[in-house]
Amino acid sequence: MTAVDIKLIRNGATTILNGGLVAVPTETVYGLAADATNDQAVARIFEAKSRPQFNPLIIHVTGAEMARRYVAMTPLSKKLAAKFWPGPLTLVLPRRQGSAVSLLVSAGLDTIAVRAPNHEAAQALIKTVDRALAAPSANQSGTISPTSADHVRQSLGDRIDLIVDGGPCPVGIESTIVKVAGDKVTMLRPGGIARETIEEFLARPVSNALQAKNPEAPGMLASHYAPRAMLRLNANAPQPGEAFLGFGEIAAKGADALNLSKSGNMLEATANLFAHLHALDRNAAAHGLKTIAVAPIPMEGLGEAINDRLNRAAAPRGGTL
Ligand code: TXA
Ligand code: MG
Repeated sequence: MTAVDIKLIRNGATTILNGGLVAVPTETVYGLAADATNDQAVARIFEAKSRPQFNPLIIHVTGAEMARRYVAMTPLSKKLAAKFWPGPLTLVLPRRQGSAVSLLVSAGLDTIAVRAPNHEAAQALIKTVDRALAAPSANQSGTISPTSADHVRQSLGDRIDLIVDGGPCPVGIESTIVKVAGDKVTMLRPGGIARETIEEFLARPVSNALQAKNPEAPGMLASHYAPRAMLRLNANAPQPGEAFLGFGEIAAKGADALNLSKSGNMLEATANLFAHLHALDRNAAAHGLKTIAVAPIPMEGLGEAINDRLNRAAAPRGGTL
């Protein structure tokens, strides 16, 4: 979809206003969107994804103006939004009094996570509905995130009402989530905007959330983003019977090997991460390989987010942190 398909967007908007579920591309990953102010529609998201109820959802708005309907935009959050929106930065902010957002979205917390996606189709859909859209990644909970319409179809298929196909997602990894409280900014999830980029802009360090016992911080399930195959991280070469996900010079040959970025480019590696994991997982299943070995990824810039997702994908299945 080069230009936005107006008819498809109108169709999507009607579906959402009727309480339905629409998969829509964003710059990060495909989202499974529903009317964030409709309890039943939001409940359908959890059901379609088989998502644990305690895991709250992000709401999507066109920009800071619209965000104000639902959350308290503090001076610091306004500054961050002015710089990074639309784009892959999610702000966790106090729920505004009288906010129409379903309590199910925030799973009982008094804060709401909000972002403005930098994607024509997502923007057009939100604008047409003229309400915040709750949208987690459009995949079964705990599996690899979808960066193409095909991924969505394979994971959710007939559990949803409509898929807006907008081609591959340019960023390819979920948004960075920060909590803004007064003048404090805490990182809850590394993602599409590197920590260093935010720190440079604010001219101070951004601290990490302490890993709470309760799943307040995002992605608390240790095993998340999991392929069917096991992952072996920081591998310099595949062992017999392993598929290989390379990076830069550390690469392998053959049908069961892919490279995140031959030139070691972090943006390219991020955009390829989930698509390559999907592809290698399919190959591994077809060729009877039980493990995908993965080359070491440097911790610079977006490498923090890539390593976060790889560590979760490699974690023992079903465990919690
Ligand atoms: O890039 C993205 O952020 C994608 C696209 C579709 O926009 N969305 C996404 O949403 O990743 P989801 O639902 O998969 O991730 C939401 C994360 C969860 O891990 C959740 O714990 C955290 O945001 N979260 C949501 N509301 C929160 C809150 N009030 N406080 C702390 N964390 C929150
Ligand atoms: Mg997800």
